Amino acid sequence: MSKRFTITAALPYTNGPIHIGHLAGVYVPADIYARFLRLQGHDVAFICGSDEHGVPITIKAKKEGVTPQDVVDRFHANIKTSFEAFGISFDNYSRTSAKIHHETASEFFKMLYDKDAFIEETTAQLYDAEANQFLADRFVVGTCPKCGNEESYGDQCEACGTTHNATDLINPKSAITGAIPTLKETKHWFLPLDKHEAFLKKWILEGHKTDWKPNVYGQCKSWIDDGLRPRAVTRDLDWGIPVPVEGGDGKVLYVWFDAPIGYISSTKEWAQREGKDWEPYWKDEDTTLVHFIGKDNIVFHCIMFPAMLKAEGSYILPENVPANEFLNLEGQKLSTSKNWAVWLPEYLQDFPEKQDVLRYVLTATAPETKDNDFTWKDFQARNNNELVAIFGNFINRVLVLTNKYYEGLVPSPKTFSKIDTDTLEKVKAFPASLSKSIERYRFREASQELMNLARLGNKYLADEEPWKVIKTDPERVQTIMYVALQISAALAIVSEPFLPWSSQKLKTMLQLPTHSWAAVQTGEPLLAATHKIGTAELLFAKIEDSEIEQQLEKLAQSKLANTIANKVVEPQKETVSFEDFSKLDMRVGTIIAAEKMPKAKKLLVLQVDIGIDVRTIVSGIAESFTAESLVGKRVTVLVNLAPRALRGVESQGMILMTETPEGKLVFVNPDAAQEAANGLKIS
Ligand code: MF3
Ligand code: ZN
Repeated sequence: MSKRFTITAALPYTNGPIHIGHLAGVYVPADIYARFLRLQGHDVAFICGSDEHGVPITIKAKKEGVTPQDVVDRFHANIKTSFEAFGISFDNYSRTSAKIHHETASEFFKMLYDKDAFIEETTAQLYDAEANQFLADRFVVGTCPKCGNEESYGDQCEACGTTHNATDLINPKSAITGAIPTLKETKHWFLPLDKHEAFLKKWILEGHKTDWKPNVYGQCKSWIDDGLRPRAVTRDLDWGIPVPVEGGDGKVLYVWFDAPIGYISSTKEWAQREGKDWEPYWKDEDTTLVHFIGKDNIVFHCIMFPAMLKAEGSYILPENVPANEFLNLEGQKLSTSKNWAVWLPEYLQDFPEKQDVLRYVLTATAPETKDNDFTWKDFQARNNNELVAIFGNFINRVLVLTNKYYEGLVPSPKTFSKIDTDTLEKVKAFPASLSKSIERYRFREASQELMNLARLGNKYLADEEPWKVIKTDPERVQTIMYVALQISAALAIVSEPFLPWSSQKLKTMLQLPTHSWAAVQTGEPLLAATHKIGTAELLFAKIEDSEIEQQLEKLAQSKLANTIANKVVEPQKETVSFEDFSKLDMRVGTIIAAEKMPKAKKLLVLQVDIGIDVRTIVSGIAESFTAESLVGKRVTVLVNLAPRALRGVESQGMILMTETPEGKLVFVNPDAAQEAANGLKIS
């Protein structure tokens, strides 16, 4: 029976391109889900758009000396293109600067205002007198009152995920000027979450204990248990949707008030274009509403937005809010500012037409229950060992043999053996097992189940060996190839949500007449005898080591750039006269013996041959070098430094060292130290 679904994917902030973390956490799973539902014949509105308000966008604009509108125009286009390029099949991709959204969000606010759903209150808020601005959200950083993270933002701590009011921060500091904020009175409208506590408790804690993911349920429970408090839904900022009621001049809606309403306005925009009615998608109790988000969005989608919808009164609430954890890259947190990411536009340049590979790898390693790591080696392995060696190899054998033995015509099966009927029975069961995983938002599991279907085919061919049997029993081969072709057809159909391009390619290769999920399930022949298939093409190509090394090199460059950027280069010291300089006596020397200073972690006692004599130098480098590794090392020595006793050992000089950008200690070794005799002067 066809059902109505409204599927939303978190509206991305429009201040940068999309990277693999976004794709893995939100957009690929949401897309698989939407495509899967459409394949079952359901009525689906898959909704997204750009989140174009909020402080980060203003900050970026300021930094670049452009307007916030310039910033969002640039990245809206960039993000939209990336989504299209990766086959994220939104029915509508809107933006929150659109007129329809400003109207929808304003109306929503007014509606709640008219219903007295807000508390209107003048309170003291953080203010930066230097910048002449109130400090909300990301304009202020300070210590999180809950977890002690010293870089919490005004509205949310990224370390522990809690949301709070800016005035809750300990030691707040302006992110604009660094000033310590003062307090200034200002009027705002608050959503009294405390008044919705009873409803939220019942709805989530009683109603969704078993069907929401443990991470989502757990976070909700902890917030509710902590006690909910009124949250301001307006801000003293100039970028955003103007507060549409009396006294709202110079104020805008809080970005987390307007953005989720963006789902509604995007649905309206879609419905208008398609000549549909938007309301059933948001107001009909028979509609299933699902929000796909990342874990930092949980409180807003499970507590705040539902409270808004409930206060309005005519909307449905989400049936589920599948939130993923975060994806790391090569063991390190993804970071825009550190350029530690795989950006989609760059990926497409480096791996054109390999969108399915990334979709597959990100699904197979999705951070569903805990943070997970993306590595380029794993990417290569999954492509080469799974997509190429299993899926691609199976399909290629089937197509090549069918063309070779039967000129591309599906052969008529003869007698089915037990193995054949068992295999066909197993194929029939795949739609149900895939559905079961997808309906529980277990996309990783589903992607592996899909690969199991390819494995089944591969094993069937390997066991039945048509290329051998053809010499002795050509009739048997007709049956084998018939069965193998049915498996290929089933793969073409059920792989569509995961691998849309490969699925399409395979359908074309097979000239597949039906694309119906149900047809696989009933076990009816998907390809009839005498059906003519097309030519074989390669579905997946091997990824070479050199391609992976290139990507790792790119990351190494980012890492180096970061260490250099973070390195504080000390300013030049005061000028010295030539006479002063010539007082320094620096010589080439060789370390001839080295031992650890007893009971001192850092100190080594070195014997250095400096040509004139052999002297003792105590050096604080034991954490970087072992004593043994230093013997024989040529070094540069300041020999006339006044002797100094360190732990009772007199040090009679100093060895010149420097530190690399990565923080590694190295010897200052002029060419002379490599080539010249001990004792030669350096000047
Ligand atoms: N822009 C937010 C983020 O990237 C998500 C907004 S989701 C919405 O974290 F519900 F507010 F639209
Ligand atoms: Zn915290």
